[in-house]
Amino acid sequence: MEDTNLSQSYRVAILGATGAVGAELLELLYSRNFPISELKLLASERSAGTTLPFGGEMLPVEAVSARAFDNVDIVLASAGGSTSKLWAPKAVAAGAVVIDNSSAFRMDATVPLVVPEVNPQAAASHRGIIANPNCTTILMAVAVWPLHKVRPVKRIVVATYQSASGAGARAMEEMKAQARAILAGETPKTDIFPYPLAFNLFPHNTPINDLGYCEEEMKMVNETRKIFGTDEIKITATCVRVPVLRAHSEAINLEFAEPFSPIEAREILKGAIGVKLVEDWQANYFPMPSEASGKDDVLVGRIRQDISHPCGLEIWVCGDQIRKGAALNAVQIAELLAQKDLLGVPAAAASN
Ligand code: A2P
Repeated sequence: MEDTNLSQSYRVAILGATGAVGAELLELLYSRNFPISELKLLASERSAGTTLPFGGEMLPVEAVSARAFDNVDIVLASAGGSTSKLWAPKAVAAGAVVIDNSSAFRMDATVPLVVPEVNPQAAASHRGIIANPNCTTILMAVAVWPLHKVRPVKRIVVATYQSASGAGARAMEEMKAQARAILAGETPKTDIFPYPLAFNLFPHNTPINDLGYCEEEMKMVNETRKIFGTDEIKITATCVRVPVLRAHSEAINLEFAEPFSPIEAREILKGAIGVKLVEDWQANYFPMPSEASGKDDVLVGRIRQDISHPCGLEIWVCGDQIRKGAALNAVQIAELLAQKDLLGVPAAAASN
């Protein structure tokens, strides 16, 4: 068990405790020994009265309500954008700091968007809400930041291969049911996804803007710039949903102002926090989502010179979307707040 070595204990609530990210939040708070004096599990009316395991105990799930945030220090929210929009301000008004996994507040200029390996300092400016970035953005940021720090990246071209877990626990079950149906010669049912995902893939199914980019792609563009603290980087993304149960993959092309040798990039990434280098060129062995699943580190490999550009570098990245792409990043933010004594809501923000 990891010991975060914090002297105080905190009253924590998980909003969306019954979801895929909620389950991982429970596991991580326990395994990382986050100091909890009281833990509240919140979800919709549907789950009220059920229980969930935390360590050796079974804890009750409550339906979220206005009073649910009384006497809570930290809310870890992962219940979708509309739920966060409704409840996060109420939690802040009750004095809690909300670490929000939804996209509701990410691009709000008053809300820090934090990846602890990249911009931990941003957390200090919170006014009650800290946003956890989009999962594909977090994985790319962890892998690209160590290189960007040494030599600023000018342009990023990324293609993603996103697993069913990105759409939640029910989406993972839907894909399994589709696979069983197809193997039995039946027509697969779709409920969460617009099309069958099993034995198939499709461009990410978020709304498309006037430029032809879907929301997920624009999140990668806008959120990466906010996290890196620069609007100078040019970014284009193509996001695709693939029939993988858990963990996302990304093919990332980086263009620098000057050449960046793969040997130097490999050395930098070898020592980078939150990154694990996975490369055996002879065996053609590189990061795979099956090996990234359940792991904290972002796996990086296939670091090679882009033969089409003297200042280009290609990298291949896999990371657990539920863990580093969501729950782990949120718990690391909570640890950061506790370590740096950044809990508590400024009076002006609480009364808003
Ligand atoms: P519930 O299980 O009661 O529906 P996932 O992303 O894995 O699908 O999980 C979504 C999480 O968000 C679940 O815990 C779900 O609770 C919760 N949730 C969804 N809608 C609401 C809502 N309106 N109020 C509170 N929690 C919600």
